Amino acid sequence: MSSQPVLHVRQVTHGFTDQSGQRLSVLESIELQINPGDSVAIVGPSGAGKSTLLSLLAGLDVPETGDILFQGESFSAESEDARALIRRGRIGFVFQSFQLLQGLTALENVMLPLELTGISVGEAKQRAAKWLGRVGLGERMTHRPRMLSGGEQQRTAVARAFVSEPALLFADEPTGNLDRRTGEAITDLLFNLNRETGTTLVLVTHDERLAERCDRILHLENGQLLEVVE
Ligand SMILES: Nc1ncnc2c1ncn2[C@@H]1O[C@H](COP(=O)(O)OP(=O)(O)OP(=O)(O)O)[C@@H](O)[C@H]1O
Ligand SMILES: [Mg+2]
Repeated sequence: MSSQPVLHVRQVTHGFTDQSGQRLSVLESIELQINPGDSVAIVGPSGAGKSTLLSLLAGLDVPETGDILFQGESFSAESEDARALIRRGRIGFVFQSFQLLQGLTALENVMLPLELTGISVGEAKQRAAKWLGRVGLGERMTHRPRMLSGGEQQRTAVARAFVSEPALLFADEPTGNLDRRTGEAITDLLFNLNRETGTTLVLVTHDERLAERCDRILHLENGQLLEVVE
């Protein structure tokens, strides 16, 4: 086996230009390698660019300059569709804003990532139901997102990210809307997945207890990403 990093970030710079043409630089010359099976927490103040960095790492967006390689494959030169194909079944994402589809039930939302992988509907249903059970939502499967509490929507988003048992899982504030006990249960699920299937975890969090359970902590501020050495 090669010891190729699961993610390799080379000289990534990214920012935004607002309506008045004012440029906002968010990330400056970011360098990073993440090895398979690692758990990594990204911390830093609000507005530092953590969510921006996560969407680049997951290939949801492309950086202005620099390159990001997932399992040796570069996202930068690929179209949106090609990036989606690279991600399919291999990358899971729990968004800060959940991004559940309002017209679908919890079960249908969790089944979604499986639908394009070629497994049967029956099997997809079974796996989605299993993961909803594991996040404590076995009794809420037919609820649509607006009939779920904020924490329940978050747990549905976690189940959706887990259902394909991806090689790489991103989660943006996965415990942000949960009470302490539920938050710890979700955290346990994340680390169980990490241990059992070797899933690499990249988490953004303000929760110190969650960050401290990770192998590495990276601090993002003023465009710079620095390793926190304990
Ligand atoms: N599409 C966009 N257009 C313009 N500015 C943006 C855009 N997306 C993010 N920004 C700006 O980039 C900066 C970084 O945003 P980002 O969402 O990455 O921060 P964050 O570290 O995730 O913050 P939080 O902890 O509050 O979630 C912010 O100042 C934000 O206003
Ligand atoms: Mg954010």
